[in-house]
Amino acid sequence: MPRTNDDSWDITQSVGATALGVAAARAAETASDNPLINDPFARVFLDAAGKGMWSVYADPDVTAKLVEMEPGAQSRLQLMVDFMATRTAFFDEFFLGGADAGVRQVVILASGLDARSWRLPWPDGTLVYELDQPKVLEFKESTLREHGAQPIAQLVNIPIDLRQDWPKALQDSGFDPSRPSIWSAEGLVRYLPAQAQDLLFERINSLSAPGSWLASNVPGEGFTDPDKVRAQREDNQRIRATAAKLIDAEITDFDDLWYPEERTPVDAWLAERGWDVTALSFPELMARYGRSIPQGAENSMPPTKFVSAQR
Ligand SMILES: C[S@@+](CC[C@H](N)C(=O)[O-])C[C@H]1O[C@@H](n2cnc3c(N)ncnc32)[C@H](O)[C@@H]1O
Repeated sequence: MPRTNDDSWDITQSVGATALGVAAARAAETASDNPLINDPFARVFLDAAGKGMWSVYADPDVTAKLVEMEPGAQSRLQLMVDFMATRTAFFDEFFLGGADAGVRQVVILASGLDARSWRLPWPDGTLVYELDQPKVLEFKESTLREHGAQPIAQLVNIPIDLRQDWPKALQDSGFDPSRPSIWSAEGLVRYLPAQAQDLLFERINSLSAPGSWLASNVPGEGFTDPDKVRAQREDNQRIRATAAKLIDAEITDFDDLWYPEERTPVDAWLAERGWDVTALSFPELMARYGRSIPQGAENSMPPTKFVSAQR
């Protein structure tokens, strides 16, 4: 279903389902022979969610059948797992770097099913604010509590739409803009219209005291290239239709959910405002963790940049 300005979702619907997609890739990486990351909670979320697109990664029989019917799907599925594994490792390192530097106030924007509050070795006294849609946070918290997990950080959930006045909700919940903070917006920006992206970074910028850290993966150059977008969409539609038949369930069309609009280059924008910025392309990120793009999947994802910055 096309997006609207005030749409909302639960974990299996619309943009909510993308969080399960990420969890599926994290679970597959965690269970692999030589994992880059260890996220024991990713599998717990999949088990609680029932059937959906994520079953394609979560159930090896489904994966094998899909690849038999759509041989091109193999390299794309592997790419997705590599993408989420390297992305997760990048953000994990970023958060722990900020914590090592002494920052104890963390804001995870669009935290989805990222279980970092529950699995990273946060120093005592670390406060993590997680922001996402109300039903997404509700599913996450109840699933992990039922599993017997306890957050390692002091966790403050802020159920809110990130197109609304979240800075007020954050400060009402105790966030102190005079202290340095660690910010992340992982897997979020493409699901916001370009204007909402600008507002997001303006707000982060105005709430970030000196000593703050920020990381985000953002659309790279060529993100809106119509030929590439069309080709990716056609491949995705075909694989999605085959997968839907295999699991006998509807599968969200992820291509309907993001906004292919020209964007402000976040790295340059932050640098102009005094942040010390580093940006990596996806191939550079993969190389950093000893991986490379699987043959045949070179054009199957829109270009992405991994930006990290300190003020
Ligand atoms: C691809 S998932 C990424 C989740 C998490 N950052 C991770 O990497 O595991 C996208 C997340 O963004 C959230 N999201 C997207 N747009 C949002 C909005 N306008 N308000 C609140 N949450 C939003 C979705 O609910 C979903 O949890």
